Amino acid sequence: MPGRNWARTALKWGMASHVQSPATETVCREILDVNDPILPAVQALYERTLDEDERIPWEWLARTPERRLAWTPGRRRPHLVIATPKDEPDRPVGFGYGVFLPGYGGYVCYLGVDAATRGRGTGTQLFRFLFRLIESAARLSAVPLPFIIWESHRPVDSGLWAARLRVFDKVGGLWARGIELHTPNYMRADAPPVRLQIFLRPGDEPAESLRGERLREAVLGLYDQIYRITPDDPLYQATVAGTVNPRLVPAVEAVDAK
Ligand SMILES: CC(C)(COP(=O)(O)OP(=O)(O)OC[C@H]1O[C@@H](n2cnc3c(N)ncnc32)[C@H](O)[C@@H]1OP(=O)(O)O)[C@@H](O)C(=O)NCCC(=O)NCCS
Repeated sequence: MPGRNWARTALKWGMASHVQSPATETVCREILDVNDPILPAVQALYERTLDEDERIPWEWLARTPERRLAWTPGRRRPHLVIATPKDEPDRPVGFGYGVFLPGYGGYVCYLGVDAATRGRGTGTQLFRFLFRLIESAARLSAVPLPFIIWESHRPVDSGLWAARLRVFDKVGGLWARGIELHTPNYMRADAPPVRLQIFLRPGDEPAESLRGERLREAVLGLYDQIYRITPDDPLYQATVAGTVNPRLVPAVEAVDAK
């Protein structure tokens, strides 16, 4: 059974597969088995928590444990994680996805908490859990982890935007002011590009060195690492053309970003 073998390996390598916050009574765990019986409930939570245009097909995310278990140090390592109440381990109240990208950094996306459970620290806990898993992948690969990066499109609901920014701030995330990532609108090909704000938590590279050209390079790296978009693409060029003095500032300053 892959789950059990993995648990043994994880113990051997001293890796965290669970994290618990006494403050919230919610525990996070990583899904390590494609047949984990909790997955249908996680899918339902994913589909009701994130808008359709913020999602990718669930089937792709649900295959994460396969790729995770086949991992060897030095390669990409994806993580699908969930949060459950401590005394209800079969009821997911939050989920998240993140990946270690060797030679680049870490990337977090697709994170959500059930509406009835928000405001109790679960979103923050999921971010931190993903950070720890990504950090452990970098450690086992014996490579630096300069930063962990994520993007966010400002939603219509300003309260939700404020809540996101608060969580980003709590986990040490800074906003890359002065640069917006133009990305395809995957749901409607005829729609204008989706403009994403970029947030980054410095890791082995201090915030002071992540500015100017280096910050621009880190953000543009998402095109290669995540979107498979090349520098000759109009989206890439639009991002470059719109960039003005990129710098890291507190996440909450993104409150008025468009
Ligand atoms: C964003 C989201 C993940 C946050 O989850 P959560 O479990 O509520 O997060 P936390 O409880 O850790 O933190 C929420 C913080 O936002 C604050 N907050 C909530 N609503 C707010 C508002 N309207 N204005 C300002 N702050 C707000 C809370 O007070 C809390 O901060 P505090 O701990 O200082 O009190 C959740 O709202 C969600 O799933 N939203 C829908 C999907 C989504 O937007 N995903 C984000 C992907 S990055």
